[in-house]
Amino acid sequence: MPATYATAPAKVILFGEHAVVYGQPALAVPVNKVRAKATIFPDPQGASGKIILDAPDIQLHCEANQLSTGHPFSVLLRAAAEALNIPHFPALTLRITSTIPVAGGMGSGAAVSVAVTRALCAFVGRSLTNQEISEIAYQVEKVYHGNPSGVDNTVIAYNQPVYFQKNIPHEFIKVRNPFTIVIADSGIKSSTSVMVEKVRKNAQSNPLEFEQYFNDIGQIASQARSILESQDSYLLGPLMNDNHRLLQQIGVSCPELDQLVYTAQQSGALGAKLCGAGGGGNIIGLATELTAEKIASALKDAGAQHTIITKIDS
Ligand code: PMV
Repeated sequence: MPATYATAPAKVILFGEHAVVYGQPALAVPVNKVRAKATIFPDPQGASGKIILDAPDIQLHCEANQLSTGHPFSVLLRAAAEALNIPHFPALTLRITSTIPVAGGMGSGAAVSVAVTRALCAFVGRSLTNQEISEIAYQVEKVYHGNPSGVDNTVIAYNQPVYFQKNIPHEFIKVRNPFTIVIADSGIKSSTSVMVEKVRKNAQSNPLEFEQYFNDIGQIASQARSILESQDSYLLGPLMNDNHRLLQQIGVSCPELDQLVYTAQQSGALGAKLCGAGGGGNIIGLATELTAEKIASALKDAGAQHTIITKIDS
């Protein structure tokens, strides 16, 4: 039996990170230029249920049953087996590779969960709906950071731009005028759970102020949605700048991210903001096909480790 594989995209949050944890809407889009890949090699001689994990990017090579039951991969394999109603997978080696920066706010964890689940489905010749796959990835997101909003697993499992609000059915967005963004990686690793916790503590100390910040971010996400659906996408630029200012105010930016945002703005971006949990990770700048290379090169000169230029459409 030949190897089976599946891939899943990265994502960026265009608007609304952090406030989405408090019930405000967020807008997120898949980024297909970088992807997680899960490859399954069958082991016909192996005992049923024996799964060897091989994830060189995170120096993990072991049998799955050596991991603790709360390890993200244990949770993932258990959730997938349960959804597929399979007590034990046939013996296999699961190789996971990814071109998505880890701990950079691009959804690398959710992309791995989605790619692995799809590869397991293909391996056993069964299918799950996008919603089922998203729910499996959500179980794993909970291991990574306790109280995730669910935006990462949703946008990655469906691979479509999404307007996401907790506890409300998500809506997919038709982008009227496709646009270009530059993504720049500060190279600083950041933990989503640490940043979410930081915001929670800041909000506890200043509840009224933070309620206003979250409402303002939600307003921006909702305005951005109507621009995306019916107007020229360059109008998103000022909203990105406003969203970045609010993210500074809630305490999730850092000098390196501010410098990259400033560089993007000064080198021709129509707007820029950090994306994801902050404290490190990536920023995005709104560009055009003509300005994207120049912005990316300025960002590299300003210290970005990698840049990605990508088109956002439906
Ligand atoms: O995984 P990240 O770094 O893209 O952050 C997710 C976005 C947050 O709003 C900060 C957390 C969440 O659960 O939505």
